[in-house]
Amino acid sequence: METRVLPYSSQAIAEAARVILAGDPVAVPTETVYGLAADATKAQAVARIYEAKGRPSFNPLIVHVPDLTSAERIGEFDERAHELAKHHWPGPLTLVVPLREGSGIASIVTAGLSTIGIRVPAHPAMQDLLRAVGRPLAAPSANASGSISPTRAEHVLKSLSGRIPLVIDGGATERGLESTIVAATDGSLRLLRLGPLEIEAQHASGERIEAPGQLESHYAPSKPLRLNANEAAADEYLIGFGEIAGDSSLSPSRDLVEAAVRLFDLLHEAEASPKRRIAIAPIPDVELGAAINDRLRRAAA
Ligand code: TXA
Ligand code: MG
Repeated sequence: METRVLPYSSQAIAEAARVILAGDPVAVPTETVYGLAADATKAQAVARIYEAKGRPSFNPLIVHVPDLTSAERIGEFDERAHELAKHHWPGPLTLVVPLREGSGIASIVTAGLSTIGIRVPAHPAMQDLLRAVGRPLAAPSANASGSISPTRAEHVLKSLSGRIPLVIDGGATERGLESTIVAATDGSLRLLRLGPLEIEAQHASGERIEAPGQLESHYAPSKPLRLNANEAAADEYLIGFGEIAGDSSLSPSRDLVEAAVRLFDLLHEAEASPKRRIAIAPIPDVELGAAINDRLRRAAA
């Protein structure tokens, strides 16, 4: 795949919107770092982000929206979250709030969680793109897994050239540091990631700072999960793959993108079934399969 680089302009944004609506991710500057953006309502498009980054696991992604009104369509803001949002948006603050019922956000975005990380970015390129696409955009930092976050289009190319179709070049980002993440899910405010903003509440009560991608940010089914299962025991709901049909299948045709797209939906389905346990067929440990297996191992642990 050839990676095109277009300097930020209204034509470039129109082209980026077209690519995103066709289901491919686009690298775009925000005021913090460059993000790799895809339509957050389309699981297939979000799976492409993981493919491009070679990300070894599914972590919940931040969803970007143009304003607080759009944010309130996908998340539930209590008074304190609302206050923070009003004060800091648009800007380098991500709020983790309960996911709103019927939000339309694909489950791969939240990695199956019932909460969602939302941000209203300040950079005009990302703002223009959000308005041009008219959908919430999931966007992790636009770098291959294991490399550092990109603050220039050249950094994006260094790790993702040939893996994504388009980069919008808006020059160096202003902040150069990923957004501050605050969770407002249970009436209190908790700092999940340090970032460019000093949030008053963060130092208030000596609360432990949780490393991103840990603890509550990982959905685990409430039932025991058995991996590499070739058949189901009597009390098991079997999630199939390929020739193993199971009660439902991640992908009868062994398509790893389809499997990634269906993973969290099927885990939730298995959890809701009357069976007391969950079993899951072997998934090849390559490409997106490696990310799926990593996620499953952690869910099973
Ligand atoms: O500045 C930024 O935030 C950049 C730009 C592109 O907006 N984005 C970014 O995304 O840093 P990413 O995917 O690299 O980081 C997302 C972080 C992860 O550490 C994840 O654990 C946390 O956000 N996160 C997202 N949703 C969450 C949730 N529901 N609960 C807890 N943590 C969440
Ligand atoms: Mg990152």
